[in-house]
Amino acid sequence: MLSQKALLLAAARRPALRRLVTGVPATRRVVDRFVAGESIDDALAVVRRLTGEGIAVTLDHLGEGVTDRAEAKRSRDAVLALLDALAALRLGRAAEVSVKLSAFGQDLPGGTELALELVRPVVEAATAIGTTVTLDMEQSRTVGSTLAVLAELRRHHPDTGAVLQSALRRSQADARALAVPGSRVRLVKGAYDEPPAVAWQGRREVDAAYARCLGVLMTGPGYPMVGTHDPRLIDIAQRLARETGRAPASWEIQMLYGIRPAEQRRLAAAGCAVRAYVPYGVDWYGYFMRRLAERPANLRFFLRSLAGT
Ligand code: FDA
Repeated sequence: MLSQKALLLAAARRPALRRLVTGVPATRRVVDRFVAGESIDDALAVVRRLTGEGIAVTLDHLGEGVTDRAEAKRSRDAVLALLDALAALRLGRAAEVSVKLSAFGQDLPGGTELALELVRPVVEAATAIGTTVTLDMEQSRTVGSTLAVLAELRRHHPDTGAVLQSALRRSQADARALAVPGSRVRLVKGAYDEPPAVAWQGRREVDAAYARCLGVLMTGPGYPMVGTHDPRLIDIAQRLARETGRAPASWEIQMLYGIRPAEQRRLAAAGCAVRAYVPYGVDWYGYFMRRLAERPANLRFFLRSLAGT
C-alpha cells in the first residue's frame, strides 16, 4: 500500500488535482506560509526583510517539468528578469538563485543540452552581478543529467552550486567527487519518492546517510551548504565545523522559507551563515505538495483550512 507521503508526491504530478487544489481560495492562505508571493516584487520584499535580519537568500522562480521549448525559454527569461531586479539591490552573494533544470527543458528530447543552453545565460547574468546559481536536484533519473550540466557550467563558473540528496544511495560517492576546492554543494535529505534500488527507504537510513555525506563535505575543501531543518543534523554539522576548524564563513546552513523561521534567526544571531530558500511565482503546486508530504501536520492544517475550521 502507498504511504501518505507517496500519495501526496504522486498527486504532485497530477494535472487534474493541480486544477482542483489551486482553484480553492482557502489553499492560498496555507501556500503563503511557504511561498513568498507571485511576483518579483513580492519576492524582493521578502529578500529585503530576510537580508535585513542577517539571513541570506536563494530565490527560486517556481516551475518544473515543462513540456515544450517555449515554456523552457520562459523559465530562463523569468530568472533573467529576477537577476535584473536583484542587481539594483546590490546584495552580491547574499541573494543567489536556485533553478530546477526540469523548468529549463531537461525532460524534453535532447533535454540535457537544451537545459545547459538555457541555464548558461542565467549563470553568466548571476556572475555579472556578483552572485551564484545553484542547480536544485529533482528525481533520481535526472541526477546524471544535472551533474553533467553542472560539470559544464563549472568549467567557467566554478562556484555554480549543486544539490545532493542523502536518500540516494549514490550520493556519498557524488559527495566525494564534488568535495573539491571552490565547490558549493547543498546537502538535503531528498523530497521525492524513489524506489529501493536507488534510495534508502527509512528515515533512520536517510539520516545516517546524511551524516556520512556531511562528513565527506565538511572535512573536504569545498563550501558545504547544510540544507536541513533537522536539529540533530545541524548539531552534527556544527560539531564537524568545530573539529575541523572550519571558519564560519566557509560553510552555511540553509532552510526553506517559512519553516523554523525563529531557528533561522537564532542561528544567524549566533554567528552562523544562514540562507533561506525563497520560492515565488504562480506555479507553486508541486513545491507545495512536497512540503505537505514532508510533514503530516502540514496536511492536517491544510485540510482544516479547506474545511474552514
Ligand atoms: P525532516 O523532514 O526530518 O524535518 C526535520 C524537522 O524540520 C521537522 O521535525 C520539522 O520541525 C521541520 N520540517 C521539515 N519539513 C517541514 C515542513 N515541510 N513543514 C514544516 N516543518 C518542517 N529536496 C530535493 O529533493 N532537492 C532539492 O534541490 C532540495 N532543495 C532544498 C533546499 C533547502 C534549502 C532545503 C532546506 C531543503 C531542500 N530540499 C530539497 C528538501 C529536502 O530534501 C527535505 O525534503 C526537507 O528539507 C525536509 O527534510 P529535513 O532535512 O528538514 O528533515
